[in-house]
Amino acid sequence: MAERPEYSPGLAGVIAGESAISRIDFEANRLIVRGYDLVEITRRAVFEEVAWLLLYGELPTAAQLGGFQDRLRAERGLPPAVEELLRRTPAEAQSMAVLRSAVSALGVTDPEARDISREATLRKAERLLAKVPTILTAAHRCASGLEPVPPDPELGHAANLLYMVDGRRPQEHAVRAVDVALMLYSEHGFNASSFAARVAASTLADLHAAVTAGIAALMGPLHGGANEAAMEMMLEIGEPERARPWVLEALAQKRKIMGFGHREYKSGDSRVPAVTEEGRRVAAATGESRWQRIADAVEATMLSEKGIFPNVDFPVAWTFYTMGLPIPLYTPIFVASRVAGWAAHVVEQQESNRLIRPNHIYTGPGDRPFPRLADR
Ligand code: ACO
Repeated sequence: MAERPEYSPGLAGVIAGESAISRIDFEANRLIVRGYDLVEITRRAVFEEVAWLLLYGELPTAAQLGGFQDRLRAERGLPPAVEELLRRTPAEAQSMAVLRSAVSALGVTDPEARDISREATLRKAERLLAKVPTILTAAHRCASGLEPVPPDPELGHAANLLYMVDGRRPQEHAVRAVDVALMLYSEHGFNASSFAARVAASTLADLHAAVTAGIAALMGPLHGGANEAAMEMMLEIGEPERARPWVLEALAQKRKIMGFGHREYKSGDSRVPAVTEEGRRVAAATGESRWQRIADAVEATMLSEKGIFPNVDFPVAWTFYTMGLPIPLYTPIFVASRVAGWAAHVVEQQESNRLIRPNHIYTGPGDRPFPRLADR
C-alpha cells in the first residue's frame, strides 16, 4: 500500500502563500501591518488611515486622507435594489446572513462588477467600505421595524456608523472605542476569512464575490461570530460572582469558552489590551461596570484553569455591550473593518495569481462496480 502522506488538520502551521500585508511579531507580541505596529497606529489614527494603508500600501498624506474620507462620505448611500432587499428580509434572519446577501447584491449592481483590474478593485473596495456600515445598520433597523437612518455627511466613519444605529449623535468615548475596534479588526494575515477571500480571488472572481466568501467564513463562532457568542455567554453568566463557577462548569462539560484561544497567539492576543483600555473608558463614562467585572472574572478563571488567553473578540463584546450596541451588530461591524484587509488580499492575490487548489487524502470506500438502479 502507498505510504500515507503527512498533512496538517486545519492547515495549522502550513505556509499557504506569501504576503506583504501583515505579520505577527511573536517575540514582541505585536501585529505589524505594512511595517507599522497596528496597536501603536490606533493610538493616534482613525480607521480611514488604516484602511488606506491596507488598500494602497502606505500611510495617507493629509490630502490623500481628506480625499478618501470625502469619497467614503459620498458613497454611503445604497442602491434601491439593496435597500429593498433589506426591507423585505424576514426580521428573524441572522444579521451576518443578511449582510452577506446584501454585499452579494451590491456586486450585482456595482457599475464595475466585471472589471477585476487593480484600479477597479480598489474603487470597488472604497465603495464597499463606505456602504457596509449603511447596510448593517439599515438591516438592523428594518429587522426592528424601524426606518433606516440616512448617513450624516458631517460625521467621520466610526461616528456615522454609530449615528445610523439610533439616529443620535454618538458620544466621544463610544466613537473612539468603535474606531479602535475597526482598526484592530482590519487585518490578520491568512486567517480563515482572508484565506477564503483569496481562494475566491484566485479563480479571478471579482471583489464582491471574494468579500462575500470572506463574510461567509467570518460568520461562524470559531472566527468573527465569537464576539456575539462571547456576549451571549456573559449575559448568561449575569453577575460577576457567577463567572468562575459558570466557566468551571462549562469547562467540565468540555465546552469552548467563546472569545478565548487563538490559532496563532498562544500567550495573548496583541490586540486585546488596546480594546480593553477602551472598554474601561466606556465603562467609566457610562457608569456601567458589570460586564467589565464579569469579563475580568472569566478571564482570570480561563488563565488559572486552562492557561488560555482572551482574543480580540472578547473585549470587543463587552465594550460594545457596555456602550449599548445591540449584539447582532457585533460581527457585522467586524466585517465593516475587515473589508479593508480582504480587499488588500484580493489585490495582492490577483497581482501574482496562481489558482489555489490543494490536494487531499482520500478516505472513502474502495472501488466498487456501478449497480443498475433496479439492483440497488
Ligand atoms: N475554550 C476552551 N478550551 C479551548 C478554547 C476555548 N475557547 N480554545 C482552545 N481550547 C482548547 C481546546 O479544547 C484544545 O484542548 P485539547 O488539546 O485538550 O483538546 C486546545 O485548547 C487547542 O484548541 P483548538 O481548538 O485545537 O485550537 P485551534 O488552533 O484549532 O482553534 C480557535 C483556535 C478556533 C480560535 C479556538 O481557540 C476556539 O474555538 N476559540 C473559541 C472561539 C473564538 O473565540 N474564536 C475567535 C478567534 S479570533 C478571531 O477570529 C478574531
